[in-house]
Amino acid sequence: MKYSKIMGTGSYLPEKVLTNADIEKIVDTTDEWIVERTGIRERRVASPDENALTMAEIAGQRALEAAGLEPSDLGMIIVASTTPAMVFPSTACLLQARFGIHGCAAFDLNASACAGFIYGFGIADQFIKTGAIKYALVIGSEVMSRIVDWSDRSTCVLFGDGAGAVLLGPSEEPSVLSTHLHADGAYHDVLYLPLNLTKTPSVESLMMNGSRLFKLAVTILDRLFDETLLANQIEKSELDWLIPHQANIRIIQAMAKKLDLSMDRVTVTLDKQGNTSSASIPIALDGAIRDGRIKRGQLLMMEGFGGGLAWGSVLLRY
Ligand code: COA
Repeated sequence: MKYSKIMGTGSYLPEKVLTNADIEKIVDTTDEWIVERTGIRERRVASPDENALTMAEIAGQRALEAAGLEPSDLGMIIVASTTPAMVFPSTACLLQARFGIHGCAAFDLNASACAGFIYGFGIADQFIKTGAIKYALVIGSEVMSRIVDWSDRSTCVLFGDGAGAVLLGPSEEPSVLSTHLHADGAYHDVLYLPLNLTKTPSVESLMMNGSRLFKLAVTILDRLFDETLLANQIEKSELDWLIPHQANIRIIQAMAKKLDLSMDRVTVTLDKQGNTSSASIPIALDGAIRDGRIKRGQLLMMEGFGGGLAWGSVLLRY
């Protein structure tokens, strides 16, 4: 039996910081409301010359360097993004060209929104486990600032821009233990980004029913954790880290409580970065690996959920 394992990680955040005080000047809101309801204090915003491709390239390069690999080693590039550089070709193909490599599989995943990175990770894991490919680069890269309505206080305060990447490769020892991917299109109207091809510009703004989504997230993640632990016959007390999608600190705290994990065993980046959609999990993972909090041998659970609704988890021994 072959397994996949994390060989290296990387991330990138744009330089520009937009604080809650800055947002108070744009919409009718307060720092107090945003911090209390979401935990977010500031977020990063891409400059006009940055996009999902430029950020993916830096994060991907950093993951390759951390793994000690070259772009020519890659058998697959997956870019999870709801805000790709182009509709087509995929940001993954554009990245392949920037890397100067030819022939490996390269595609984007946009349908699973904030769960996109977990979906990409699950797909890459299957290809590596079967021996079909050796190395896969899985990236989440988002410029959410370009799809939020900056006059809608209920959504514009929540999101941020950035990219995170994970380099997966083969392992003889068990490392990625299981991946769990799910979706339920019955909830398509809770979070969506309309595309109206009869209009210019044809991409509209992100729409969200926040309170409904909040309740769904808590219920869905609760079930997802049970499923993940049961599939691996492990107790929650064995977990070292939870790396959750960064949507709302109250959701994250509820999930930590469910797993009996103290908050210092949970990666939290949303205070400084907001919700970077499919980039949030790999950015948080990379940060905690690089600063030494997450160590080799520890047991990690990652979870993501987003538009679709789509959700998923990964259990791995790092
Ligand atoms: N500043 C001040 N007031 C705001 C506001 C803002 N930025 N945004 C909304 N409000 C107001 C609303 O207008 C509403 O006012 P009303 O009662 O007079 O109508 C009030 O605050 C409560 O709104 P509500 O949406 O019920 O607040 P909430 O406690 O549910 O918090 C979210 C809103 C969005 C923070 C929360 O629902 C959430 O995080 N949901 C999940 C989001 C998520 O997971 N998204 C990403 C998935 S990938």
